[in-house]
Amino acid sequence: MKTTIPPLANNEIPTNRANELKDDQLEMFNKDVSLENLKAVKEFGIPVSKILLAMSETCRHEAKQTLNIESRPEDKYSDRNKLNDLPGRVWIQETKSNWRQKGLGKGHPHTSYERLHPAPFSYQDVGRLIRFFTKSNDRVLDPFCGIGSTLKACSFLNRKGIGVELSPTWAELASERLTVEVGDNHGQEVVCKDIRDALPNFTDEQFQFAVTSPPYWNILTKNGDHKVKESRLAKNLATQYSDSQQDLGNIKKYESFLQQLTNIFRQVAAKVENKRYMAIIVSDFRHGSEFYPFHSDLYHRLCDDVIKLVGISTLEQTHKKLYPYGYPFCYIPNIHHQYILLFRVFHQ
Ligand SMILES: C[S@@+](CC[C@H](N)C(=O)[O-])C[C@H]1O[C@@H](n2cnc3c(N)ncnc32)[C@H](O)[C@@H]1O
Repeated sequence: MKTTIPPLANNEIPTNRANELKDDQLEMFNKDVSLENLKAVKEFGIPVSKILLAMSETCRHEAKQTLNIESRPEDKYSDRNKLNDLPGRVWIQETKSNWRQKGLGKGHPHTSYERLHPAPFSYQDVGRLIRFFTKSNDRVLDPFCGIGSTLKACSFLNRKGIGVELSPTWAELASERLTVEVGDNHGQEVVCKDIRDALPNFTDEQFQFAVTSPPYWNILTKNGDHKVKESRLAKNLATQYSDSQQDLGNIKKYESFLQQLTNIFRQVAAKVENKRYMAIIVSDFRHGSEFYPFHSDLYHRLCDDVIKLVGISTLEQTHKKLYPYGYPFCYIPNIHHQYILLFRVFHQ
């Protein structure tokens, strides 16, 4: 019989329930998750694995609650809505073009996987996009899936996600993260391949939605955000995706990078069903003394008769630190937002 654990507040120690859990349920949860918060380990002698399991259950409950819309009596669902499962009131709210990034908060047990990766997005943000641009059971492609945030969101929303990731390190961690943070992953799939090799294996128009955040050129290997880099190095965390030549983040020239990325997104669009959508999350960046308007460079190259730009939303990054770049001599921005480029696909 499955043990059901009622929800707990963040980091609350489930001292009274952990001992009821069965040993075979515990084996999966042997990860190093915010142990500094687990004072009960010493105080009450409760096995860490039991506490982690209870915390994971709590987090899953939270995650489901965050992404799933609670129906209200006044909700109106239109029979003509072939895009998503949202009532009108939520549909309209979600069309606002400025969003605030929603993170898990410092010390949340489920940050342990995402912080290993140098540039993950929040599963709640990508979840909002998936919830808007798909219906339950629809298929979603993430061509640069990193540590699997898209797949995590797909699991909680009952969509079928396929994520492609070049680096075996991130691909393996993405699968592991799904087991730990989601439990039953509802058929999500991680394909460890260069996206250029993976794409021919998908059939045309196989997916109802494609959503991703690609590498931002080789910006992680540059000195631009040196303060962020120093702080990750101090914690022994990765500062670039991989050393691979196939990694788009290791391309030397910006123009070649843009060209490669554009080619890939054209092929991704071919795998998206006619009149459905593709969302690309990117940020502008600085390199040396130059400012690169990456979001605009990308959509200008990408738009054509098949791929139509239908909107650009901003995603405000409220958690980022402010640095006194340029002070007191010149203006240098703290770039604290990303862009969500929204395209609709029209196959002729
Ligand atoms: C911005 S990250 C994506 C992070 C992801 N959204 C998440 O939440 O974890 C871009 C990812 O693209 C991967 N990548 C780079 N070149 C690739 C290629 N040729 N094929 C597939 N993945 C690639 C990198 O390893 C990196 O994990």
